[in-house]
Amino acid sequence: MSPIVKILNISYTYHTREGETKTLEDINLDINKGEFISIVGPSGCGKSTLLSLISGLLKPSIGNIIFDKLLINNNSHYIGYMLQKDHLFEWRTVYKNILLGLEISNKLSQENLQYIDNLMKQYGLYSFKNYKPSQLSGGMRQKAALIRTLALNPEILLLDEPFSALDYQTRLSAGDEIGTILKKENKTALLVTHDIAEAICYKKQHIALYLK
Ligand SMILES: Nc1ncnc2c1ncn2[C@@H]1O[C@H](COP(=O)(O)OP(=O)(O)OP(=O)(O)O)[C@@H](O)[C@H]1O
Ligand SMILES: [Mg+2]
Repeated sequence: MSPIVKILNISYTYHTREGETKTLEDINLDINKGEFISIVGPSGCGKSTLLSLISGLLKPSIGNIIFDKLLINNNSHYIGYMLQKDHLFEWRTVYKNILLGLEISNKLSQENLQYIDNLMKQYGLYSFKNYKPSQLSGGMRQKAALIRTLALNPEILLLDEPFSALDYQTRLSAGDEIGTILKKENKTALLVTHDIAEAICYKKQHIALYLK
């Protein structure tokens, strides 16, 4: 099986007026279809930077990221990126926030709406659909952001500390749950966490990368 994403000798340095920050150095990783990979490491080691590089928001200073051509041609939404901050819009309801990606890409089909309803029910958000984001708890906001990311049915999911606002116990069970869902739907996922216990609680995944 050839990988759908190949990360080759990536390095990244931020340049600011204050100076340079060398963040990632010579990172290599193959991502195969259906894999669920955790990226673990302490705060500031470059986890979010790596996801931004894979999503294309940043360009590597050195090295290349090569995507399977089929992946790019088949579906323009081949990458779903759930950022570390949830970026929910306060002027839209929870439901309207979740619909945003589908709305922008003109994909408000019955099938997609049904999929969203199911996810909202599954994650206990359905009865809050008409609430504003500020009326939700931190964990509920993250779930809403996750459903918004899943709504576009991306081939690869990049999840940056998706459950960091949840208490420890709920985080482990939510992590287990999402791991199961991603496996069931045969999604490829990269999940960032600074918590090694969280990383190993996901079913059938492996810790592929430990950043220092
Ligand atoms: N926009 C930026 N400009 C300059 N330096 C940055 C920028 N973003 C991140 N950095 C620096 O790059 C390093 C890695 O940051 P990054 O956000 O990737 O870490 P992280 O592993 O995701 O940390 P955390 O677990 O706290 O989210 C840090 O030293 C940070 O200060
Ligand atoms: Mg981060």
